[in-house]
Amino acid sequence: MQLLKSIATGWFLGSSLGAASPATWQRSQVGVGDQPKVAPKVFIVSMFEPEAAAWWGIPEFDLLAHNITIPGASPIFPDVHCTVDYDVCQLITGEGEINAAITVSSIALSPFFDLTHTYFLIAGIAGINPKVGTISSVTFARYAVQVALQYEIDMRELPNNFSTGYFSQGSYGPGQYPSSIYGTEVFEVNAELRTLAVSFAQKANLSDTAVAQKYRSQYTMDGYEAATQAPSILECDVATSDVYYSGVLLSETFSNTTAVLTNGTGVYCTTAQEDNATLQALLRTSARNRTDFSRIIVMRTASDFDQPHPDESAYQNLRYADAGSFEPAIQNLYLAGIQVINGILDGWNATFAAGVTPSNYIGDIFGTLGGTPDFGPGRKQALEDAGAITKRSFVRGARL
Ligand SMILES: *[C@@H]1O[C@H](CO)[C@@H](O)[C@H](O)[C@H]1NC(C)=O
Ligand SMILES: *[C@@H]1O[C@H](CO)[C@@H](O)[C@H](O)[C@H]1NC(C)=O
Ligand SMILES: *[C@@H]1O[C@H](CO)[C@@H](O)[C@H](O)[C@H]1NC(C)=O
Ligand SMILES: *[C@@H]1O[C@H](CO)[C@@H](O)[C@H](O)[C@H]1NC(C)=O
Ligand SMILES: *[C@@H]1O[C@H](CO)[C@@H](O)[C@H](O)[C@H]1NC(C)=O
Ligand SMILES: *[C@@H]1O[C@H](CO)[C@@H](O)[C@H](O)[C@H]1NC(C)=O
Ligand SMILES: *[C@@H]1O[C@H](CO)[C@@H](O)[C@H](O)[C@H]1NC(C)=O
Ligand SMILES: *[C@@H]1O[C@H](CO)[C@@H](O)[C@H](O)[C@H]1NC(C)=O
Repeated sequence: MQLLKSIATGWFLGSSLGAASPATWQRSQVGVGDQPKVAPKVFIVSMFEPEAAAWWGIPEFDLLAHNITIPGASPIFPDVHCTVDYDVCQLITGEGEINAAITVSSIALSPFFDLTHTYFLIAGIAGINPKVGTISSVTFARYAVQVALQYEIDMRELPNNFSTGYFSQGSYGPGQYPSSIYGTEVFEVNAELRTLAVSFAQKANLSDTAVAQKYRSQYTMDGYEAATQAPSILECDVATSDVYYSGVLLSETFSNTTAVLTNGTGVYCTTAQEDNATLQALLRTSARNRTDFSRIIVMRTASDFDQPHPDESAYQNLRYADAGSFEPAIQNLYLAGIQVINGILDGWNATFAAGVTPSNYIGDIFGTLGGTPDFGPGRKQALEDAGAITKRSFVRGARL
């Protein structure tokens, strides 16, 4: 109790909550004993300022009505923002896997919140695979794959029969399933909830620009028809990598990695730097009933292509090309996301308070939340493999 109290007091340094919180709350007692906690219906997960600001000053609600400082949040974004009634809140993770993991863990474990019935809407921009979709589109993932958690050899030193420098840990070449499993490689979220989110998002009129229209029309190669279509709402999967890459070969490499890790069921379409970390934090807290892993929506809007068109290089695509889609991707977070949030709030009593029961497996590669993954080897095999590798590497005194 003493510990909780002193932490609770610490939260409110620099916070506006005191003035606006319900009169019955004692600052030092929020989250302690039977005091009420804040139980948002939707938590928007933004990664950096432009994604976050897309939700500020909108007519539907005022997210900046409460700013609550949370220990463990990013030093750049120390505050969670909430509406007057606390129905909708927003956290900003900071970019990359480490920032996402620590921010989301801190908020999920904060005694200030009751997140047991909260929907998490991950709402960020991303690169898109032009074989699957186009810039300015809005995607909803079922799988998140940590594609760069692999071995890597620079291509100049690569065995001459390797198609890429990346291959799974514990494996001996590209295309093989890893035998060294960390547990964060793959997450699967609620497919039924995704279907509902897509049906809400389809009410949005998406933003686009003339520059983006011209840019996407240059992806004239066979197999890239999806890139040249108008932006739309798509169901396809997200890759997580701290490495911000560009190029045909790395896109194909990580598309292959996604297929290997999801037993051929994942469709690699967007690339971002946080989602597996966010999902790992929510998985661990769901395993202890602090959050509900069946209430996660992974939405990514496409701000750029992950590889060049035929008249530019991978480097030009990464650093110089103006695809004209950064602004519409930011706007579409709000345009599609507000439909999802209103769908959840409007359907709260009828559907969302009780939750949407998934028909698919949800969770990680180990089966931490129960059930058996419908991708990958499952916990027993993964642990056996990991154990075998650890023992072997110890005996040999060599890295595997
Ligand atoms: C919350 O912080 C934002 C800046 O991030 C500020 O504009 C807003 O006024 C703050 N809200 C309150 C209630 O202090
Ligand atoms: C990351 O998360 C996604 C979706 O949540 C999952 O499909 C993917 O397999 C995860 N990747 C890794 C490497 O854990
Ligand atoms: C590359 O060639 C070596 C030697 O023939 C073989 O053992 C290995 O399996 C090959 N690796 C791949 C990834 O094809
Ligand atoms: C989308 O555009 C159509 C046609 O202009 C309009 O009827 C509809 O209300 C718009 N939807 C939204 C959500 O703004
Ligand atoms: C991706 O996998 C396919 C099929 O196994 C293979 O032909 C191709 O070379 C792989 N691409 C890369 C870049 O590794
Ligand atoms: C979480 O909740 C479920 C369902 O009510 C229960 O069976 C399980 O024991 C709880 N787990 C923990 C760690 O409290
Ligand atoms: C939902 O249920 C609550 C509590 O019973 C009630 O106060 C509220 O008016 C209901 N909302 C709607 C939209 O029906
Ligand atoms: C992987 O897919 C194959 C068929 O493509 C299936 O037979 C197998 O059971 C799947 N593995 C898992 C773990 O679901």
